[in-house]
Amino acid sequence: MIQLLDKSFEILITKKEIKARIKQLASQLNDDYSTKKPLFIGVLNGSFIFAAALFKKCNFEAEITFIKVKSYENTSSTGKVSEIFGINENIEGRDIILVEDIVDTGLTINQIIKTLTKQNPKSLKIATLLFKPKALKVPTNPDYVGFEIEPKFVIGYGLDYDGLGRNLGDIWVLVD
Ligand code: IMP
Ligand code: MG
Repeated sequence: MIQLLDKSFEILITKKEIKARIKQLASQLNDDYSTKKPLFIGVLNGSFIFAAALFKKCNFEAEITFIKVKSYENTSSTGKVSEIFGINENIEGRDIILVEDIVDTGLTINQIIKTLTKQNPKSLKIATLLFKPKALKVPTNPDYVGFEIEPKFVIGYGLDYDGLGRNLGDIWVLVD
């Protein structure tokens, strides 16, 4: 158990399991993108560790950039995605791999998809480390999923509780 601010967390997924799973996801990407030159778009802040780990294991030509959105406060979704900023690249006609730390309600990723689709990318796929299918509020079907988890609050490996916990190597779940 660990304590972060007022909350306790226990281990859900170990760093070893994460590492092994990212290797598998990268090997899928290596098959799917061997003849393409995609642009990875990581969603800040949460995805920066996953995006880096995944990107490093990809052996095709690829670029990476990041966008920033905010939708979460404390331990529950606000349901509102405030501004998306940071897409300077021209994504028209490009293969895009959107990288998220977690798809929870799906609101964030769908808002981003809506914005990016307006710019006519050639393809747009979603890679997410974690997926809470039972928490979805809008239908979402991520293409590359690290782990499906129960709709509980988690931290670690980039995911935070009020800014803390991102540097934990394992993924921890709230104990209530
Ligand atoms: P959604 O819009 O509800 O799908 O939430 C997406 C964003 O909320 C993610 O990119 C995370 O930043 C954050 N989030 C969702 N669930 C969790 C969680 O369990 N722990 C920490 N952050 C989360
Ligand atoms: Mg996020």
